[in-house]
Amino acid sequence: MSQQLHVDENKCAGHALCTVIAPDLFEMDDRGKAIVIGQVDDANLAEAEEAVAECPALAIAMTSS
Ligand code: F3S
Repeated sequence: MSQQLHVDENKCAGHALCTVIAPDLFEMDDRGKAIVIGQVDDANLAEAEEAVAECPALAIAMTSS
């Protein structure tokens, strides 16, 4: 089972905390929205969960597949 990160660009307000918490998983695009750039794995799962929890706009979701 793998975890997938998703950013809801309608909710993302460009706070960029996700890119600070998990720079290997998120970066800002040229519209000031976060995009997912990496795969969640055992090494960064805690960072991914923290980014989900800390996003002020509640724009990040993580689903299992
Ligand atoms: Fe956007 Fe939340 Fe990151 S508002 S830039 S997804 S911390």
